[in-house]
Amino acid sequence: MTEASYLVLLGQIHERLLPRTYVEIGVHEGDSLRLARPGTRTVGVDPAPNLREAVDAAVYPMTSDDFFARHDMAEVLAGLPLDLVFIDGMHLFEFVLRDLINVGRNAVPATTVLLHDCYPISAETATREHNTYLWTGDVWKIVLCLKEVCPEVDVHVVDAPPAGLGIVRRLNADTSDRLQERYDELVDRFVNLEYSVLDGHKAELLNRIDYDWSLIEPLLPPSF
Ligand SMILES: C[S@@+](CC[C@H](N)C(=O)[O-])C[C@H]1O[C@@H](n2cnc3c(N)ncnc32)[C@H](O)[C@@H]1O
Repeated sequence: MTEASYLVLLGQIHERLLPRTYVEIGVHEGDSLRLARPGTRTVGVDPAPNLREAVDAAVYPMTSDDFFARHDMAEVLAGLPLDLVFIDGMHLFEFVLRDLINVGRNAVPATTVLLHDCYPISAETATREHNTYLWTGDVWKIVLCLKEVCPEVDVHVVDAPPAGLGIVRRLNADTSDRLQERYDELVDRFVNLEYSVLDGHKAELLNRIDYDWSLIEPLLPPSF
């Protein structure tokens, strides 16, 4: 990864927020999980974690759907609020939609949710089939979905290499209910959306902002 990758930005966000709790969906080798600061109650969820080094975290070896179905977040976080979430699990629209519904049910007003890979670099790397080494799937569609169904939710996408980091604020139980009620319809519609809808309007449609800390910082809540 280059200096300016999403991992650098994630580290900066940890430093700035000093979250009491951090939940990561999609752990892989632990590169992002390890960015949590000492003292942060850190939770990872991944059906196939492959940690290269020990991490001071509770890692649940299961899909995020199973995690939310089987575990009570208040218990997992020992009663602390959900401060920071990073969604980087299965890179398909319907999975990210379910992750956001589940996270919203556990969110408080200060919760910040980060979404990986929602500023795709090309149609070839944004297919629903995993064909390329760098693969972002159709995660980008979630930005359009949130803007349409939950316009009060703040969603911005930092153009951080390689394929963007979304910053989502103001998810809550109400946004989750709305997304859940329309789940089937939204999946039918957005799964079939063509990448070409972004042609000529990608930055505007995906609420792109430059990777510039002076633009990113105001999107975050005060430090915890
Ligand atoms: C791109 S990797 C995560 C990378 C890691 N966050 C980082 O930045 O270093 C995606 C991970 O999501 C996991 N995953 C796949 N399906 C999942 C699901 N349904 N729930 C949670 N994690 C999932 C995969 O096992 C894989 O380890």
